[in-house]
Amino acid sequence: MATETTTIDRYGVMGYPVSHSRSPLIHRLFALQTGQNLQYELLQVSPEKLETAIRQFQRTGGKGLNITVPHKSEVVRLVDQLSERAATAGAVNTLTFRDSEIYGDNTDGFGLLRDLAVNLDINLENANILILGAGGATRGIVGPLLEMKPASLRIANRTIGKANVLVEHFKNLGPVSACRFDAVPVTPPYDLIINATSAGLHGETPPYPAAAVSETTICYDLSYGLSPTPFSAWAREHGAAKSVMGWGMLVEQAAESFHIWRNVRPDTDSVLKQMTITA
Ligand code: ATR
Repeated sequence: MATETTTIDRYGVMGYPVSHSRSPLIHRLFALQTGQNLQYELLQVSPEKLETAIRQFQRTGGKGLNITVPHKSEVVRLVDQLSERAATAGAVNTLTFRDSEIYGDNTDGFGLLRDLAVNLDINLENANILILGAGGATRGIVGPLLEMKPASLRIANRTIGKANVLVEHFKNLGPVSACRFDAVPVTPPYDLIINATSAGLHGETPPYPAAAVSETTICYDLSYGLSPTPFSAWAREHGAAKSVMGWGMLVEQAAESFHIWRNVRPDTDSVLKQMTITA
């Protein structure tokens, strides 16, 4: 018989490492704000224990999980039903346990688009977009960005083969192309440059294409910190119109997960302010 350990609905985030995650704080703030009775745990799980840990969380009455680095792609094979956006991204960041089934969704792209469109008031229709990096983070955002009908979306990566694979995967959805960092064309000028490499996490600043930044370019780092990330400092140095870190995407993707789980949409504005002050 399943052991219901608590009457409070349980959620959590699984990653490796995960101690730095702000998700518990964000979800607690959402729960407080919306009057939802739930708890949200930080769960450090190594790749070889992922499946066992997810099934145990489900068996003991857990309601939902966020999945973070490095498990987002691996977890796809464990879900019973995959949302369309998770299937397109080939990655899952939100699991919901219902009627003994596991539902997998991906709220990362939604979170980025909402931050760009609502919080930052950026219009992506007919925009020229450059994404730096071609890993899992890029895979999660290309589909939603192409849906906004940009004029062009170029993926630049250190390893051109990985960028080419993404172009093959997404080419039916819109005008996407690939190149190396040192071959980024500078015309037309980019409206938006997104850093989706993990270089900053390792304290590295690769030779990003400086000539691609113009005084009208908005630079957005999917990473975030209390002080400027290496990319966001680089963007400022090279004269970007605006240099933004990914706090907004973090809070917006969490709000979308919360909405999936609780059918309530929290107000993100106040939580975003609180995060960047207290993080
Ligand atoms: P994630 O899921 O965070 O995207 P990933 O799949 O390991 O992580 O991808 C990391 C991305 O950051 C890749 O595009 C990687 O470039 P390569 O494909 O050439 O490996 C990029 N990256 C990481 N460190 C980098 C560095 N020092 N210089 C340039 N690119 C880097």
